[in-house]
Amino acid sequence: MQPINRKLIDGEAAIPPLNLYLKSYRENPYKYLKEIREHAPLYEIKGPNPEWFITRYEDVKAVISGNNYSVDDLPYRLLKKNDLIKGEGNLNVLSDAIADWMIFAQPPEHTRLRRPMTRYFSPRELSRMTHLVQKDVDSLIAAVREKGEMEFIADIAKKLPIITSSRLLGIPPEDYDIIYKWTNCLVDIFDQPNTLESYQAMNQTTIEFREYFTRLIATKRKRGDDGLISYLVALNDEEHIYSDDELLATCSFLITAAQESTEAFMGNSVLALLKNPDQKKWLSSNPDKITMAVEELLRYDPPIQMLVRIPLTEVNIMGQTIQPGERILTSLAAANRDPAEFDEPDVLNLARAKNNNIAFGYGIHTCIGAWLARLEGQLLFNSLLASFPDMELASDKLSWYPNVFIRGLKELPVNLKI
Ligand code: HEM
Repeated sequence: MQPINRKLIDGEAAIPPLNLYLKSYRENPYKYLKEIREHAPLYEIKGPNPEWFITRYEDVKAVISGNNYSVDDLPYRLLKKNDLIKGEGNLNVLSDAIADWMIFAQPPEHTRLRRPMTRYFSPRELSRMTHLVQKDVDSLIAAVREKGEMEFIADIAKKLPIITSSRLLGIPPEDYDIIYKWTNCLVDIFDQPNTLESYQAMNQTTIEFREYFTRLIATKRKRGDDGLISYLVALNDEEHIYSDDELLATCSFLITAAQESTEAFMGNSVLALLKNPDQKKWLSSNPDKITMAVEELLRYDPPIQMLVRIPLTEVNIMGQTIQPGERILTSLAAANRDPAEFDEPDVLNLARAKNNNIAFGYGIHTCIGAWLARLEGQLLFNSLLASFPDMELASDKLSWYPNVFIRGLKELPVNLKI
């Protein structure tokens, strides 16, 4: 890898400073990311603690899967914050719970937490979900058809993931609304910075989540079903893989990890189709190419825009030494648009043949729910296009959630043209 100019590392020369919080960045991060990847692929974010931002496909892939990096140390930082705020309430329940989430764990704990459920997430096991997801897609589409209009996020993108992952876990339909409210609060854990009030709200949500799953697990113990929670409870009663706390934390983590990312994926993908009518038309005429098309939609506007990694030892990236403990923000969004990996990366090409996008990450933490999320997208997009082939964007004014890690629309009004 060629060393890069120090001045450019500082972001002081040819490129504007990176500001993930700008409204214009949120509206179109890709034009900023392109400049940064070209001029400062290792970008130092100035601040009290050194932080780095990397954007090239090969670098991002190497760092997120490298065994000399740890995942984000948020549980540790939250514990420190908790010590500081004694007297203003505490964040004990939240910090204990996220310390049990596999996404913040290193091997061997990570392997212990993840392995019991990998079988359950395999395409073979999950293929039994296909007809159920299709049934749910059909009834959501029937509801908007009856209404004659669609705000895609509220009418479909919020609903389908919660229905699907609740089915997977064995959560009853009467609880979908409250579960959605909790995931919507807890997802802020993946954002930064967060206010104390927001951490306190997440702490309260975690308490409610714990109480809820304690009751649900007791029910499953009495009367099991074919959901993931029953499976984990039975396995754990026999093999004692998780502590009680880990089992509870795993339930709330799974449902949170599944919800906002999949909701954002659906919104970003439908927006991309509406903004590229020729591609939308092509997919309508080629529904059998949906697998390929979904990969391209994931590449083009990935819901998870960045992941954090922290070197465990001194590392050298592009000639720059990075010390253990310095945070590296790895941009999946920029990597997925790297011309060194993808031809014409800024073009949405649903027929793209070579597409090793990293929207679901790479390495041991690769998304466990990737197959399920893809399935939801494949069934939904084909059914939508079959039902409303002429649908159009109803407004150019779009607003995005402020989360800098998860890129998702707040609303997406669509003219169904029926
Ligand atoms: C399009 C939707 C989704 C996207 C883009 C997405 C993306 C990701 C990414 C990038 C990671 C890697 C995190 C890292 O390396 O630090 C991840 C991890 C994870 N995802 Fe997803 N995800 C999606 C849907 C889902 C669904 C539906 C589920 C569950 C039903 C799920 C469960 C998980 C879990 C449990 C992890 C942690 C894996 C580990 O740490 O070993 N995700 N996801």
